[in-house]
Amino acid sequence: MFKDLREFIKKLEEERELIHIKGRLSPKFEIPGVIKYFVKERNSVLFFDNVEGYKIPVVANLLGTKRRLALAMGVKEKNLAEEYLSRRKKPIKPTLVKRGPVKENIISEKIDIIKAIPVLTHHEKDAGPYFTTGVVISKDTKTGIRSMGIHRVQIKGPHTLGIFLNMPPVATFLERAEKRGEPLEIAIVLGLDPVSFFSSVILAPEGIDKFDIAGGLIGRSVSLVKCESVDLEVPANAEFVLEGRVLPGKREPEGPFGESSGHYFTFNNPVAEIEVITHRNEPIYHALMPFAGEEDILMDFCWQMEGKSLLLNSIPGLEDIVLKDMGLITVAQIKKQEESDGLKIIEQLFECGIPNKVIIAVDEDVDIYDDKDLWWAISTRFQPDRDVVIKKDMPGLSIDPSNIQTESDSSGAKVLVTMTSKIGIDATKPLKDYDRYKRLDVPELVKSRIRPIIERYLAVKTP
Ligand SMILES: Cc1cc2nc3c(=O)[nH]c(=O)nc-3n(C[C@H](O)[C@H](O)[C@H](O)COP(=O)(O)O)c2cc1C
Repeated sequence: MFKDLREFIKKLEEERELIHIKGRLSPKFEIPGVIKYFVKERNSVLFFDNVEGYKIPVVANLLGTKRRLALAMGVKEKNLAEEYLSRRKKPIKPTLVKRGPVKENIISEKIDIIKAIPVLTHHEKDAGPYFTTGVVISKDTKTGIRSMGIHRVQIKGPHTLGIFLNMPPVATFLERAEKRGEPLEIAIVLGLDPVSFFSSVILAPEGIDKFDIAGGLIGRSVSLVKCESVDLEVPANAEFVLEGRVLPGKREPEGPFGESSGHYFTFNNPVAEIEVITHRNEPIYHALMPFAGEEDILMDFCWQMEGKSLLLNSIPGLEDIVLKDMGLITVAQIKKQEESDGLKIIEQLFECGIPNKVIIAVDEDVDIYDDKDLWWAISTRFQPDRDVVIKKDMPGLSIDPSNIQTESDSSGAKVLVTMTSKIGIDATKPLKDYDRYKRLDVPELVKSRIRPIIERYLAVKTP
């Protein structure tokens, strides 16, 4: 398995998953534009060798497909879900090591982030350059419990950042630190090994260490080193680490920034000051173009896998789930025992912690991975006056512009509150009428006889 980004890049080259773009391109709009429009045509990893104004290359769209996540975990794509769920049950704690390549260069004076790192400016109206792969690590100072997640980070000045710490547990750690009037120490890690990067997005409750999860998914303990100026540990093989503090009680406009949801958002957000940057020799900058498809793996697939591992055993009748569009749309496959099971399971999913807004329940004979099948179930098995449940005033996803957003006052600092309504569509067959809804097919016996014939013809290459 891959101990760092570089080993993974080598593997991607061997597998012909990565394309080198040799022409000189600016990190402002040009590289993002190429990522956006190239990926639309062909979902490859892109490696920009020649970045205008920098000697540092940029790699992007690393985990844009399930195949590449499977490569990162060393499994076949068809076994990815099964293997994920099995490894997820076997966490492996990180190991603290004395030294690591991330310490090869230590900058503690005259810090100028934008001079040191080719941070991209992504969309037309973005307020400036943003880290979009910055994995923010922090700890609750009282309990020592760690947080680790990707957060959007605006470069506001040579060592000043705007940072969106909206999701718990880090949002809770900041709130507690602010109540004490203390700053929150943070380390922003760029260029992790691919599985640790993926694991950072898991919606884990406070107390679950995502390095333990990453270790389990990799099958080997992640090596961590101590930071220079803050009491935190970071992956020893990362490309860059920025160490600093989120200032207590301070809020400033951060944005506009074109988000994963395809819309711009400006928030009144905390400010961080960076005191130390460490990086490897000849570092590589890992970029992510928002709204260009990589979130399908990093949010939808990640949260779907977590949903499966947590919910399939705890909600009776729930057989499988698929998440789309940052989890806002969730499809649930269910096995009904009672007529009310469809709506009952939907109501349980409303509260499950995934930031869903539309939930569609279907039967076991519907392929929830096939949109055409899903639309067929909705068109033919769902009655609007009978099969809908709507809930108001539920917590929503902050980057869904249709939600209602307010700011509440917490310990002298404003906290963003996002509320949504939710709809559940029960597109399952009524139990009492199963025969009427029987899906058309040819007899089973015939299916097994014709399969080899179909496969033979599928194998024939057409000119
Ligand atoms: C591309 C990407 C960008 C994200 N940006 C943010 C963000 O700006 N703010 C936020 O609170 N969560 C963001 N998230 C979600 C968090 O990474 C995720 O909820 C994580 O579990 C938070 O963990 P933490 O609270 O331990 O930091 C983002 C996720 C992805 C995949």
